[in-house]
Amino acid sequence: MINSAMTVREVAVQIPESTRLFETLRIDYCCGGNKPLVEACKSAGVQVDNVIALLGALSKPDSNNQDFQKLSLNELVNHILETHHVFTKSEMTRLEALTDKVIGAHGSNHPELFKVGDLFRQLCADLKPHMFKEEQVLFPYIAALEQATAQNRPVPFAPFGTVANPIRVMMTEHDTAGDILRLLRAVTSDYKVPADACISYQTLYNALENFEKDLHQHIHLENNILFAKAAEMEATKR
Ligand SMILES: [Fe+2]
Ligand SMILES: [Fe+2]
Repeated sequence: MINSAMTVREVAVQIPESTRLFETLRIDYCCGGNKPLVEACKSAGVQVDNVIALLGALSKPDSNNQDFQKLSLNELVNHILETHHVFTKSEMTRLEALTDKVIGAHGSNHPELFKVGDLFRQLCADLKPHMFKEEQVLFPYIAALEQATAQNRPVPFAPFGTVANPIRVMMTEHDTAGDILRLLRAVTSDYKVPADACISYQTLYNALENFEKDLHQHIHLENNILFAKAAEMEATKR
């Protein structure tokens, strides 16, 4: 049962499908997940009672969604890698080139495109080492921690001390990415394409909006499920 005092994170974890609704209503469920639903609705300018009614419809047993809560941490890591890391990397390559092309064609009439280019390049420059650290350090450690727990072995050695340390760093980097996404949305007037835009311009804005949506879901799975469970697993074992 959903109520307005629950945090956005609690709702997103309990009803996986809610993230789509939050996306549509611009309710921050990844970096701002610690806010109570009532407060998040207020910030987004929507009525909390209406949102709770919509959430009630989503949580009906017939709704077809994947419950990420039920996956093992290793399965969740694999899902994040195969779905979100693969998508983010291929889109970064494609959209960096597309951004340059659109700036070349329309930058003189639409100077805000230079800002879009700067922000997107900054986002990519942040995300590349961020995902590398997850792939090389944090995710393998979480998988090893889960295996050690299952086999009743001690917590594996970690050069970073406790898993809470890299998690804190990753979450700070997620906040920074969330801030850049908000700036991109503001500078593009919610990805509204001007009347004189060509197909490439339209493609770029659609793709950037999709990139935002995917990154929100990606950060939600890490912050609210994977990291929360890994920290709890380690704390229980210590
Ligand atoms: Fe990630
Ligand atoms: Fe991440």
